Amino acid sequence: MNRSAETWLRARELADTRSRNELLARQFCQHLRPDTTVIDLGCGGAANLRYLSRFLRVEQPCLGIDHDPDILACAAEHLRTPSVQFRRLDLARHLSHLPRGPQTAFTASAFLDLASQDFLIRFVELARETPLLIAMTASGTPRWDPVETEFETTAIDEFLSAHRRSDHGFGPSVGYDAADRLSELLSAAGCSVTTVQTDWNLDFRDATLIRLLIDGIANRLASLKCDLDINRWRERRLQLLADAVLVCTVPHRDLLSIPPGRGGTEQ
Ligand SMILES: C[S@@+](CC[C@H](N)C(=O)[O-])C[C@H]1O[C@@H](n2cnc3c(N)ncnc32)[C@H](O)[C@@H]1O
Repeated sequence: MNRSAETWLRARELADTRSRNELLARQFCQHLRPDTTVIDLGCGGAANLRYLSRFLRVEQPCLGIDHDPDILACAAEHLRTPSVQFRRLDLARHLSHLPRGPQTAFTASAFLDLASQDFLIRFVELARETPLLIAMTASGTPRWDPVETEFETTAIDEFLSAHRRSDHGFGPSVGYDAADRLSELLSAAGCSVTTVQTDWNLDFRDATLIRLLIDGIANRLASLKCDLDINRWRERRLQLLADAVLVCTVPHRDLLSIPPGRGGTEQ
């Protein structure tokens, strides 16, 4: 895994763990049989499996899937448990190679917003039969306090939304609507679906993650032709962060789906 991806995944794991909906995670795990294999899609460094391990049986079989061999090596190093295995697979091209059927359950974290509508439709053909927990899907642009100027907000929101809808390997992405689109497709297939808002609420205690967020936005915007003075925006955000007065909300959603005849969910 390249260093910047590793730094980002490490930093976001803390915020994800704090923000995730524990009730949905517990309900997902309650629907698993002892021999169900929990398949984590786009597992990265295995943060999702690490989070779920507190609710899973110790011997619950788990399979982390990612297309990046370096990330998988890192995941295997950080989660050495005989019941957890990792496999390299490009989900955009080889979704049908995943194990399926009553002894599988699917999960993912910080992955769904990469998906296209076509991928979601193909994925629902698998996921409609199994318990499914999709955590931390980005569902909107960051909101800052103190606020930016209206011009900055509009320019950055437009850029981020367009970037989110671009092709991340699966075809044009559905972007911030991904959790809602998946929810509609699964509900139409007869599944019992619950979605919960799981926003990051970040402040000076999350300085590393906020700094990475600011730098990520600034670096990408700097490479585009745009009237916004992005360096000025960056400097002002970083100063507010250094003064410990900057707060940032980043919208996310968690989704739980239980197939027909498996008991549904409670809120
Ligand atoms: C934002 S990271 C999330 C990682 C992890 N789930 C977490 O919560 O920290 C998205 C992950 O999806 C993986 N990914 C992206 N496209 C993929 C594809 N076509 N097939 C398999 N994995 C993919 C990336 O390698 C990366 O590890």
